[in-house]
Amino acid sequence: MRRFLIAGNWKMNCGPVDAAELLEGLENAKTEVAEEVDVLVCPPFVSLGMSVNYLQDTDIHVGAQNIHFEDNGAFTGEISASMLTECGCSFVIIGHSERREYFGETDSSVNKKIKKALAFDLVPVLCVGESLDQRKQDIHFDLVKNQVTAALEGISGDEALDVVIAYEPIWAIGTGETASKEQAQEMHAHIRGVVADLYDQETADEIRILYGGSMKPANAEELLSQPDVDGGLIGGASLNAESFAEIISIAEKLS
Ligand code: PGA
Repeated sequence: MRRFLIAGNWKMNCGPVDAAELLEGLENAKTEVAEEVDVLVCPPFVSLGMSVNYLQDTDIHVGAQNIHFEDNGAFTGEISASMLTECGCSFVIIGHSERREYFGETDSSVNKKIKKALAFDLVPVLCVGESLDQRKQDIHFDLVKNQVTAALEGISGDEALDVVIAYEPIWAIGTGETASKEQAQEMHAHIRGVVADLYDQETADEIRILYGGSMKPANAEELLSQPDVDGGLIGGASLNAESFAEIISIAEKLS
């Protein structure tokens, strides 16, 4: 049985002061401990340490939004996987479309980062998804298949079980426009099929596939009710403690 994972991607928001406020709000807004749901917050690097400290007696996991694929060295401005593990992080978002678009990330760098994350016991949240143009050209299924295949190249079936995939249609990120539940379900089923082809049906049945792109309390229930949607990667709505807590409760109710 796959457990829901509700993950907040804070992007470039919330330095330590705002992060403390948001986490406090989340603690207050969460009426009960989410027993059936895994919860993750991904603050910016400078707020990771305080978030780990703040959340140490809770079940909420902390993750980063990126890593470099080398262990250490002359890579000004970069952060390694071992540094994140040392900080108490357990997850890392990899290959977000904003990183692919603005910071030149490629399928090849994404693949290296996933391998490095796994080597340091960080759960990679691998982001894939098509642009509106690619969807209009009807190449979205092939594109996502290629992204997943390239990202998982050289990764064993056992290791793949530790990867979380997030399907994030670029046209739905931060736009207020959400994929319909049918669009989400058909792409998630497609991704599961790709994983089955790469490994086997058991691996495909176990791997978690999150939906991301304007998920909010108003649409979370219909998206999370889809059989192949195992949670959400939530940007905007995770910056509001009440909204994020509400999505967690919806997932808890559906578990
Ligand atoms: P959004 O962002 O929920 O604000 O659309 C999701 C994401 O980019 O991970």
